[in-house]
Amino acid sequence: MNPEVNEQKLHDLLNRAIVDFGGASIAPLVVIGDRLGLYRALAHEGPATSRELAERTDTSERYVREWLNAQAASGYVQYLPASGRYGLTPEQTLVFANDDSPAFFVGAFQTSIAAGRIVDRLTDAFRTGEGIGWHEHHHELFHGIERFFRSSYTGNLVQTWIPALDGVEAKLQAGTRVADVGCGHGASTVLMAQAYPQSQFIGFDYHPESIAAANERAQEAGVAERCRFEIATAKNFTGDNYDLVTVFDALHDMGDPAGAARHVLSKVARDGSWMIVEPYAGDRVEENLNPVGRAYYAGSTMICTPCSLAQEVGLALGAQAGEARMRDIVTGAGFSRFRRAFHTPFNLVYEARP
Ligand SMILES: C[S@@+](CC[C@H](N)C(=O)[O-])C[C@H]1O[C@@H](n2cnc3c(N)ncnc32)[C@H](O)[C@@H]1O
Repeated sequence: MNPEVNEQKLHDLLNRAIVDFGGASIAPLVVIGDRLGLYRALAHEGPATSRELAERTDTSERYVREWLNAQAASGYVQYLPASGRYGLTPEQTLVFANDDSPAFFVGAFQTSIAAGRIVDRLTDAFRTGEGIGWHEHHHELFHGIERFFRSSYTGNLVQTWIPALDGVEAKLQAGTRVADVGCGHGASTVLMAQAYPQSQFIGFDYHPESIAAANERAQEAGVAERCRFEIATAKNFTGDNYDLVTVFDALHDMGDPAGAARHVLSKVARDGSWMIVEPYAGDRVEENLNPVGRAYYAGSTMICTPCSLAQEVGLALGAQAGEARMRDIVTGAGFSRFRRAFHTPFNLVYEARP
């Protein structure tokens, strides 16, 4: 053993790497279980042997048996040795089998698997410094992001984030006009349209495929007459005098967030508000060296930073930009007020006023 190597520290590091190796290895299996309805079949029809689950889901028993054991070893599924069956606890159901639960986490796995598809392209980008546009990812990424973020919005947006803004909830309840910029599949827009039936919502995103999906989501939710979506960038979206402009988990993805901020200022009413939701981050790197920061820095390297670098200016804030940086950008664009209105372990919610 090299005398400079501390054996205990080496073991600790390897143990950590083994846990992470298991996590990386289980991720594709989470996506497969979600696609094939394996979790949902356990949740809705109760514990099953591998044969019973394969019959319920019209899948091959041998694959299902191996999948179940990998899930049980991960703590994602419960093994019941007395009956040889596998089941889901109420908590496992919320995390893996219920799309509408604020704890639903499958979208996160879907996102990291989808982002990993660009590993060759990204390796080259590290050498060249070139960007990779949002639209250049596999479509699984757009669905994964939608489901991952929707959980957070389901649990927080209407309950705590909007009430934390100055007078915004009352305006939404009375009836107002809202622009949701960088809306993706419209998860936030549709949730707001459902909660505030007197108000009108328009979502904008530069990505045509996302806008088509968002319009479908509004139809499915029965809110299409007051919630629609159009292709536009954050610097050319249309309309005027919005009482509320929102940008959910998208400002740091933009090439020119300062230009976007200036455009928002020109579109928001004089007594209106701009709500900016960003991933939780401290201002200093050392504040973000924790499990949440780790996931965000990794996602930022694969998704957010290349997305920004692919656009004009290419500021590449990254997903861990922090409050001080955001304040500089927003107030530098001419907003007179900027404050942190709320935060959760995953999100920062800012309010900017003209
Ligand atoms: C991480 S996703 C968030 C989507 C959505 N707001 C949500 O919370 O589910 C970032 C979104 O920003 C969009 N985007 C990136 N740059 C943009 C720009 N310059 N103008 C408009 N949309 C942009 C992407 O197309 C993508 O849909």
